Amino acid sequence: MFKKLLIVLIVLFIGIQFYHAKPNKSTVDEAFYIGKKYPVPEDVKSILAKACNDCHSNNTRYPWYAKVQPVDWWTNRHVQEGKREINFDEFTERSLRFQYNKMDELIEQVKENKMPLNSYTWIHKDAILTQQEKEALTGWAQSVRDSLEANYPKDSLVRKKRP
Ligand code: HEC
Repeated sequence: MFKKLLIVLIVLFIGIQFYHAKPNKSTVDEAFYIGKKYPVPEDVKSILAKACNDCHSNNTRYPWYAKVQPVDWWTNRHVQEGKREINFDEFTERSLRFQYNKMDELIEQVKENKMPLNSYTWIHKDAILTQQEKEALTGWAQSVRDSLEANYPKDSLVRKKRP
């Protein structure tokens, strides 16, 4: 009985190796990249690259084992979910309110150690941010937020409370 179950599992495991999610790789021009509108200092750029961009940009660096199912599906689900929340490569085409709120969220998520996801830092040890890196990242997000606030009327940034 156990042997049969094992064979079924092995066949299933081999079978799913033929199905892959579409990789998150794109060479589309970066017209809406966040850095086109808001300067991204080099140190912040490298923090984003090592800790965030795999799930929040149009290019994921895939480790070899991401080709093995079901890791591929699992990885891809995070990438799709992450990109839906905030995609640094398509940031400036979103509404001003979106941009403003997401910078607020970014500051909060990083301060509360919610980003990068634990399941990510568990494997990518270099994505565990030092206090200094967190400050660089949140300080930059604050500057993006400040520049939005300085350039656009507050009403267009914050959703009005319903009476
Ligand atoms: C392994 C993939 C992954 C990595 C790496 C990652 N994120 Fe996320 N991020 C997600 C997912 C999935 C969500 C949506 C679900 C959630 O909030 O848990 C998300 C949500 C967010 C949000 C939106 C929260 C909201 O409620 O509006 C922000 C902002 C964010 N991430 C910033 C970052 C930053 C900054 C980094 C790097 C320091 C980072 N993320 C690294 C997957 C990731």
